[in-house]
Amino acid sequence: MGVNELKEALIFLCKGEFWRMAVLWTLSLIISYLRLFAHSLFLGKSKFSDRSSPSLPTTSSDPATASIRKPICIITGATSGLGAAAAYALAKEGYYVVLAGRSLHSLSKIVSDIKEQLDDACVKAFQVDLSSYKSILSFKHSLQQWLLDSDMHCSVQVLINNAGILATSYRITAEQCDQMMSTNYIGPFCLTKLLLPLLEQSPIPSRVVNVTSFTHRNVSSMEVTGETISGKYFSKLSSYPFAHVYEYSKLCLLLLTYELHRRVGLVEKSQNVSVIAVDPGVVKTNIMREIPSCLSWLAFSASKLLGLLQSPEVGVRSVLDAVHAPPETSGVYFFGGNGRTLRSSQLSYNSKLAKGLWDTSSQIHLEFQLASQGNLENN
Ligand SMILES: NC(=O)c1ccc[n+]([C@@H]2O[C@H](COP(=O)([O-])OP(=O)(O)OC[C@H]3O[C@@H](n4cnc5c(N)ncnc54)[C@H](OP(=O)(O)O)[C@@H]3O)[C@@H](O)[C@H]2O)c1
Repeated sequence: MGVNELKEALIFLCKGEFWRMAVLWTLSLIISYLRLFAHSLFLGKSKFSDRSSPSLPTTSSDPATASIRKPICIITGATSGLGAAAAYALAKEGYYVVLAGRSLHSLSKIVSDIKEQLDDACVKAFQVDLSSYKSILSFKHSLQQWLLDSDMHCSVQVLINNAGILATSYRITAEQCDQMMSTNYIGPFCLTKLLLPLLEQSPIPSRVVNVTSFTHRNVSSMEVTGETISGKYFSKLSSYPFAHVYEYSKLCLLLLTYELHRRVGLVEKSQNVSVIAVDPGVVKTNIMREIPSCLSWLAFSASKLLGLLQSPEVGVRSVLDAVHAPPETSGVYFFGGNGRTLRSSQLSYNSKLAKGLWDTSSQIHLEFQLASQGNLENN
């Protein structure tokens, strides 16, 4: 370890946000596992532990379902960690996996890795930056064009909102939002809204899976305003509260999961769509890339000592459980693998808060849409 790295680690050690991560995140993780244990002790086997086979229509007499040769599963952030592990597992199971990632180089690497291991894998890569509305919109158009050009049914069966970052500094996006809030929450919100018609058009039940985190449990109260959701509020603080922002973004994603679940249940054409939240626990991925490497090593080692550190191949099981749960499963929180579900924090079930979040996020989405139309007209 060089002198600069040591200096950087020492500065980081003096931050309250680091200790919030080290202490409160560990506690919330332990609490989640204790709850899981208590649940299995008193309530027995989870009702989702019998995996339903994925909805892979093979010899259907219904022309609509027969036109889906392979169900399409979109995975955001498919170039690393859990996203890459999910892409490999689902391609192996026979899904047509759409890999969405921000780096073309990483995308082509993961495509060739999957094809090298699985000869008959169907994978297609698209470049998309979840922190940019323009990029999300262009992804949607390219996806639709690809479906048309490939003569595939114009629908999507699974959308996994997996991309996420743990940013340690405030960075502003093209739309003047905080990068972490944009990637972890606003981007998935806009993407899901834009792709909802494709999910609704699926002749077989379709699903949205949102990858959230146990860290949401550390948010005890929250304010939902345009300033907090866009993250602009955090730029006004003397230092960037990165651990708070990460927790907040993950709670927003959970509230969105439950709100979307309630909303799709009310609209007849959307009833085909289910919405599930997933928490993989602690997984050794690149999520801590912005934390000084000796401290992220320490954090992973502590989780390993507690017996809670998982590889991406193991951690991804909760994501796969969510994809494979029976079609009627919706509005639940998967945690711990083996089809196990858990109650998320009390605050995440606050429907008034969720409605406020939905309305404010929809307003932000509308502003993005108007701005992108304005840009098109000006060009
Ligand atoms: N690892 C854990 O312990 C843990 C625990 C709970 C929840 N989670 C959640 O699990 C999800 C996956 O994280 P991971 O642990 O697998 O981390 P990771 O290895 O860092 O993977 C994150 C993925 O998201 C992509 N990504 C980041 N910003 C993006 C953007 N603006 N647009 C498109 N893609 C973007 C990354 O692409 P690049 O490679 O190009 O950066 C990468 O493919 C995240 O939502 C994370 O919050 C992780």
